This record gives sequence, C-alpha cells and structure tokens, in this order.
Amino acid sequence: MSKVVVKLSKINKIYQTGEVSFQALKDINLEVKKGEFVAIIGASGSGKSTLMNLIGLLDHPTSGSYTLDGEDSSHLKEGKLAGIRNKKIGFVFQSFNLLSRTSAIDNVALPLIYAKVASSERMERAKQALLQVGLSEKLNSHPNQLSGGQQQRVAIARALVTNPEIILADEPTGNLDSKSGVEIMKIFHKLNAEGKTIIMITHEDDIARNARRIIRLKDGEIIK
Ligand SMILES: Nc1ncnc2c1ncn2[C@@H]1O[C@H](COP(=O)(O)OP(=O)(O)O)[C@@H](O)[C@H]1O
Ligand SMILES: [Mg+2]
Repeated sequence: MSKVVVKLSKINKIYQTGEVSFQALKDINLEVKKGEFVAIIGASGSGKSTLMNLIGLLDHPTSGSYTLDGEDSSHLKEGKLAGIRNKKIGFVFQSFNLLSRTSAIDNVALPLIYAKVASSERMERAKQALLQVGLSEKLNSHPNQLSGGQQQRVAIARALVTNPEIILADEPTGNLDSKSGVEIMKIFHKLNAEGKTIIMITHEDDIARNARRIIRLKDGEIIK
C-alpha cells in the first residue's frame, strides 16, 4: 500500500472581507497517496484555487488539519512552511510565471539558488529537467522565443528540478490551445509513470479525464 502524502481532515476556509464572510471550502476530507494522478474539477468559483493554495502551504485553513508527507502543518510557522513547500512541492500555474528576460535554463535553475545548490550542479540539473520535458534544444531560448506549450514545459521543468514529492498544477492548460494541452498531459502521464504524485486543477472535463481519479468540487464541497 502506498503512503498517504496529502491528508486533509475537516478543512474549512472562510474569507473575511470587512464585515462580509464567505465560506470557500466546507468540511473537506481528502487523501492522496504517493504516485497518484488526481484531478480536482469544478466550475469557476467552486474553491479549486483555494484548495490548491492550502495543499501547497500557500495559505492556512480556518479550521481542520492538513498533514503533508506525514507532517502536520497546522502549527508550523511561515519560515518552516516555506522550507517544506520548496522541498516537497513543485508548482505549475496557468500563466507559466517565467522570468521574461531570463533563458529557459536559468528559469529552471532558479529554485536551486534558493535551495543553495552550487552553480555547476544547478546548470546540470536544470539541463536534465529540460531534457525530461523534451526541451534540450531550447536551453538558451527566452520565453518570448517559445510557444505557449513550450513555456509551460519550461515551467514544468522548473517544478521538477528540486525533485519534489508532488507536482501541484492549477489550470496548467488554461492558457493553451488544445494541441499544446495534449502535449502537457503527455508529460504529466510520463512523470506519473515515473512515480511522481500529480494533483491537477482544471475546469475542463477532457483535461480531468487524464487523471486516474477525479474529485469534483461544487460551492466549496466535494460532491464526488
Ligand atoms: N482572498 C479572497 N477573499 C475573499 N473571497 C475570496 C478570496 N479568494 C477567493 N475568494 C472567493 O472564494 C470562492 C472560491 O474561489 P477560488 O478558490 O478562486 O475558486 P476557483 O479557483 O474554483 O475559481 C469565490 O467565490 C471567490 O470569490
Ligand atoms: Mg482558480
């Protein structure tokens, strides 16, 4: 039996804006095991990004507990959370979030600077990560010289370079044409076959169908 890497128990998230409070997540219970490929699907406003931010330790729940790779995160301070986040999670966003004046290889190597890896090893590992996403020919290209699909592959390489336990992707194909979207899904399938845990958020059914398990959110609740 694979170990549980993500365990959310009775998670609630309430946003407070002045006098107005809004419950974005309601009593969420969710377990993801190592090596799973899970899609979280739901309409706009259903709470997908809120859930992703909690799983990625970018935000705190209002109540409930969250255990990531065996460690209860509820009582950890921001410094410790940032360390766990950098080590365990690789993020992929809808809008790629690459540095525009920086080559592909330097974009990919960036997380290794924060991880204090020596320069020569950084370049070697960034090259390997770009090879994994089929971009070994584009090491020195800048984002504006790459297609949207290629930019997203650079972003995936950047997520992989620290060798995280989990890839967490929020609408990774949201800014791509369907052909590029299919390419990105092929890469996720390959990474998953190599043992990576993938949690992918989407509002598109045909993208979600790439996952082995689909979790449906509606108005902040898991309905399926
Ligand atoms: N920082 C915030 N403050 C107040 N309300 C928010 C905040 N972030 C999200 N919301 C609200 O919570 C709900 C869920 O948002 P979100 O998680 O972004 O949904 P999704 O990603 O599924 O579109 C929405 O109604 C949104 O308006
Ligand atoms: Mg969202």
